[in-house]
Amino acid sequence: MKKLFGIGTGPGNKEYLTLKAVRVMEEADIIFAPNNNGKNMALDTAKDFIQGKRIVLIDFPMGKVKKEDYENAAEIIKKEIPEGKSGAFLTIGDPMVYSTFIYLMENIEEMGVEVEVVPGITSFLAGASKSKNPITVKGDKFLLLDEMKDEEILEKVDSVCILKTTKNKESIIDTFEKKNFSYTYVKRCSLKEEQILMDKEDILEDEDYISFIFGRREKDD
Ligand SMILES: C[S@@+](CC[C@H](N)C(=O)[O-])C[C@H]1O[C@@H](n2cnc3c(N)ncnc32)[C@H](O)[C@@H]1O
Repeated sequence: MKKLFGIGTGPGNKEYLTLKAVRVMEEADIIFAPNNNGKNMALDTAKDFIQGKRIVLIDFPMGKVKKEDYENAAEIIKKEIPEGKSGAFLTIGDPMVYSTFIYLMENIEEMGVEVEVVPGITSFLAGASKSKNPITVKGDKFLLLDEMKDEEILEKVDSVCILKTTKNKESIIDTFEKKNFSYTYVKRCSLKEEQILMDKEDILEDEDYISFIFGRREKDD
């Protein structure tokens, strides 16, 4: 039987790789990662541990990825893993959080390939530690989003992390200000370009996709 591991490589710095992720990558016969113009951040994180291994970058079309695209990617992965061997599909952060691997996993399992997921440190937890923003304290309700479509949702929570912030940062910040939430912008957490910004103008100037915004309800006096 063939086996595919979905591996979370954490926020970017190799020190945040788990021991299990390192062992599984070292033992894998082949490494897969999504193709971002010939590059991939998870591969950069893992590079010291996958030297000399066959690496296959999987293409996904720009914009909305369709069901057939995941099926095609799953076919390629199944074909590339040698019989009785294992492959490792690398994802940034954790594979179960807003990741391509979630969709691939379903197709791969249907094709008779065993799947195991190795968790990674997700971006927003690494960023919360770095910026010393508690995600939750006793009794809190926390919300994770990749887009804020409905500002009223903030009425129901105490803290929120919004990933993929390049989309509509200005309206996110305006909503935080209107709803009396403080906010922190975390860019490239754990990498050398890391920045933690709290000034609205500085945040709006930045256009890095590898960033998120954390918001917390201000306490009433
Ligand atoms: C497709 S999602 C992947 C999420 C990932 N699976 C995780 O667990 O964090 C991509 C988003 O993750 C966030 N992200 C990933 N790494 C980051 C980092 N080092 N610093 C800040 N944000 C990061 C950004 O919001 C980015 O737009």
